[in-house]
Amino acid sequence: MSIHADISKWTLPALARAKREGHKLVMLTAYDCSFARVMDAAGVDLVLVGDSLGMVVQGESSTLPVTVEHIAYHTEAVARGLTRAMLVADLPFQSDATPERALDASIMLLQAGAEMVKLEGAGHKLEVIAFLAERDIPVCAHLGLTPQSVLTLGGYRVQGRDAPAAARLRADAVAVAEAGASMLVLECVPTDLATAVTKASAIPTIGIGAGPGCDGQVLVLHDMLGIDSGHRRPRFVKDFLGEGGSIAAAIIAYAAAVRDGSFPDAEYSY
Ligand code: KIV
Repeated sequence: MSIHADISKWTLPALARAKREGHKLVMLTAYDCSFARVMDAAGVDLVLVGDSLGMVVQGESSTLPVTVEHIAYHTEAVARGLTRAMLVADLPFQSDATPERALDASIMLLQAGAEMVKLEGAGHKLEVIAFLAERDIPVCAHLGLTPQSVLTLGGYRVQGRDAPAAARLRADAVAVAEAGASMLVLECVPTDLATAVTKASAIPTIGIGAGPGCDGQVLVLHDMLGIDSGHRRPRFVKDFLGEGGSIAAAIIAYAAAVRDGSFPDAEYSY
């Protein structure tokens, strides 16, 4: 039986099983209860209250203005719409700057209904990941293009293109898992690199602009519905509403395409 039919509630052991048995994981962002309900019914496995809400809901030009209170508010709403999917919430800009700050923010998000927190980067964040994981807070790491670093990166670009950058990303992926992360988002990474990281990774990888070799995929809801949020649409975004004809059908089509490996193909990868 497919794990997706078999699982009545996504948990950390279920994610580990999906990785072990090679089942693709389907993830989308949501910011309110109604969309969360549609996703849960469509069989989406993981729902992320991403700090992308700054750009697609609040109309900001980056994710930097998003606060923990904003994420907590949307997490409460999304949690009311889910029964089966696992709810992941982003630790927004600098709320994870120190282990203590990250713990306070994570408590707020878990009490709002999140089941895992996501944070960007490695380096000093390894200490934060370990601090949270030791306190029974499930952590998803996020490497590659980390939008909270937009000011130092100088824009939203594909990461890990040259050999030293690729080696750094491979080492960071091992380090976040060793620090205690349970899942890893890889954003805007060349397909070959993301595939190699995934093969070497003990934890599931979820790609966004990272090619088909990851253990799962995530997209921003507004992007996959073709909604113009006023930002340049990255190459990896596919408009599933065009194919599906309704929002529910678009989400079902996305989930099916991730599971059968047809999304993302080369057109939507680097
Ligand atoms: O904030 C967000 O929506 C994200 C995804 C793009 C992975 O981090």
